[in-house]
Amino acid sequence: LGSERAAEVLGLIRDVPDYPQPGVTFRDITGLLADGRALGDVVDSLAAFAAGGVDLVAGLEARGFLIGAPLATRLGVGFLPLRKAGKLPPPTETVTYDLEYGTASIELRTGTLQQGARVLIVDDVLATGGTAAAGVELVERCGGVVVGVAFLLELDGLGGRSRLAGHQVDTLLRVE
Ligand code: PRP
Repeated sequence: LGSERAAEVLGLIRDVPDYPQPGVTFRDITGLLADGRALGDVVDSLAAFAAGGVDLVAGLEARGFLIGAPLATRLGVGFLPLRKAGKLPPPTETVTYDLEYGTASIELRTGTLQQGARVLIVDDVLATGGTAAAGVELVERCGGVVVGVAFLLELDGLGGRSRLAGHQVDTLLRVE
């Protein structure tokens, strides 16, 4: 995205203060998703992050699905859902990670990932990086090779990028 278009697309993401809890600003991408040209621009731009070759796109539930599945189609590859715990039938592999309060788990259906497959992990927002780091661990544990982690929006200053050190991290838009 050029800087002018990036600013327009960023303008379609609505900041909702104190949601879902006080002190948290929710980044609502529904307005962007509803704009066909913006959604197309985002998917086309994310596709450039797969230049080195990708066999599968893995999306993090839930909003990573909304961007990851059209990206997979655009790249002509399959899609892997990395789901929140308890949503996928067995057999699954699980990674548990820390949240600010408590823990969360994500799962991948084992057998959907060929050993050595090159995987691009996708999500809408990079904040602390905990979710994406768990996604990387999950894909690697199942035999995939993470060739990149791509985000629509990076929230600077929360340390997300450093949680993904050692991996190619690409983001389309950045805010403080
Ligand atoms: C949000 C967002 C990322 C994650 C980023 O998902 O879509 O997946 O948080 O935060 P982190 O970098 O601090 O881990 P959320 O848990 O709200 O799930 P949802 O997409 O199902 O609403």
